[in-house]
Amino acid sequence: MSPSPNTFLFSLIHLDRQEKTPLYWQIYAALRQAILTQQLPSGLRLPSTRDLAANLSVSRNTVVNAIKQLAVEGYLEIRPKSGTYVTHNLPEELLQTAVSIEQKAPHFPKHNRPLSQRGERLAGISTAVNRNPNQQPVFPHGRPDLDAFPFQIWARLINKQYRQSPLTLFRNNPDESAGYQPLREAIAMHLRVARAVRCDAEQIIIVSGSQQGLYLAAHMLIDPGDEVWMEEPGYLGARIAFLSAGATLIPVPVGENGLDVAAGHALSPTARCVYTTPSHQFPLGHTMSLKARLNLLDWAEKAGAWIIEDDYDSEYRFGGQPVPALQGLDGNGRVIYIGTFSKVMFPNMRLGYMVIPPDLVEAFKAARFTIDIQSPNVVQAAMAEFISEGHFSRHIRRMRRLYAERRAILVAEVDRVLGDRLPLSQSESGMHLIGWLPSGVDDKVVQKTAVSHKINVAALSDYYLDTCPRPGLLMGFAASKPNEIRAGIGRLAAVLDGA
Ligand SMILES: Cc1ncc(COP(=O)(O)O)c(C=O)c1O
Repeated sequence: MSPSPNTFLFSLIHLDRQEKTPLYWQIYAALRQAILTQQLPSGLRLPSTRDLAANLSVSRNTVVNAIKQLAVEGYLEIRPKSGTYVTHNLPEELLQTAVSIEQKAPHFPKHNRPLSQRGERLAGISTAVNRNPNQQPVFPHGRPDLDAFPFQIWARLINKQYRQSPLTLFRNNPDESAGYQPLREAIAMHLRVARAVRCDAEQIIIVSGSQQGLYLAAHMLIDPGDEVWMEEPGYLGARIAFLSAGATLIPVPVGENGLDVAAGHALSPTARCVYTTPSHQFPLGHTMSLKARLNLLDWAEKAGAWIIEDDYDSEYRFGGQPVPALQGLDGNGRVIYIGTFSKVMFPNMRLGYMVIPPDLVEAFKAARFTIDIQSPNVVQAAMAEFISEGHFSRHIRRMRRLYAERRAILVAEVDRVLGDRLPLSQSESGMHLIGWLPSGVDDKVVQKTAVSHKINVAALSDYYLDTCPRPGLLMGFAASKPNEIRAGIGRLAAVLDGA
């Protein structure tokens, strides 16, 4: 007996009854795939649902559901009193999908397909920095404790935007590329009161985290080859932003009083820009003295240079006087101030802000628009309410207490278990301390061994462009619970014994 013309079609459908996917969906997917790959050509008449059901040993309803779905999506045409046919007019783009299902991406030889010089620069940069993918819970630096974040309040505020906001919130608006106005106003108020920043809401540009602020500043202010003072040691995110703009980085040493302005002047008197973290130098933790601030502002004005002030974690100060922002001392519009919600809220929120001198605002707004139009309004609106309803300052106060406790536990535990073997830096702010290693020890080797003991410290030398004068480990305390800190120090003692 010759095989039925439908035997081929039945052979294309393999049902797996152990699978969680419903049978009707398995039939749908098999027929769809066969149509897209043209194993079932257009115009082909399908067997009756009764025949299909009998052959596949499923109920007729199961087959009917699959056929209906394919008809709704335009793969099949049901002609009353005639039968079900593979559609004649399969849209072009669906057939293209079929090609990609069948074929792997072709291999293109690399030669003769150059990126732009800018593209090459961007592609090379991320591999040049240590991205620290280590996810161990003990001592990650710069990471807030997400268990302590009020997600319920945040979820309520996000939901509220979806339920109650006018539809304009869900459209892009070129006039709002600088950000959602109530959030710009709330940030300007917060910065004036808490950071002594001199600004009004019109100077605020909302960005997707400090990183975008650094990228924008670098690309708006730097031409390839321009010299930029980089704090040495310094923040890798800033380093890659300036490198992406083609800057020549000039490492300028950092001392007890922050950036050494005299050294910078000697190394590169006509630099175009300086990157600095005056409130809490990253990663050493020093505060820039008033004298150094005034010297820096004075040099910048005379040299016609820009100062990028990264005020990334000033909310966390555990003792001493709060230090106002450098921007508040600037009478010449030389400072671009950058702040972030990554440390108080959560890092993947991707929301930060810049304070731009008034004459540059329009230019930065235009660039912000070109890069990605604007930050999502729903998140911005929820953030504005998080601030105006008082949750922001309440959360900062709670985290300040929590992190101060953890810092104290870290200090006490290091003192008790490690004593002189790992003296800690004295910084009274931020979310990490430096544990100083004996000179001659390679902190990168210690860091690698520590990771194998489930300890997430970073090597201080990774933050230097030149040689690191004193090896050390960055030890974050904010995201580690007290018992994790204690256990981590015990394991670190074993690592240091080995070193
Ligand atoms: C010095 C410094 N600036 C900025 C940031 C925050 O960056 P973002 O706002 O892009 O998350 C960090 C985070 O680790 C940092 O250490």
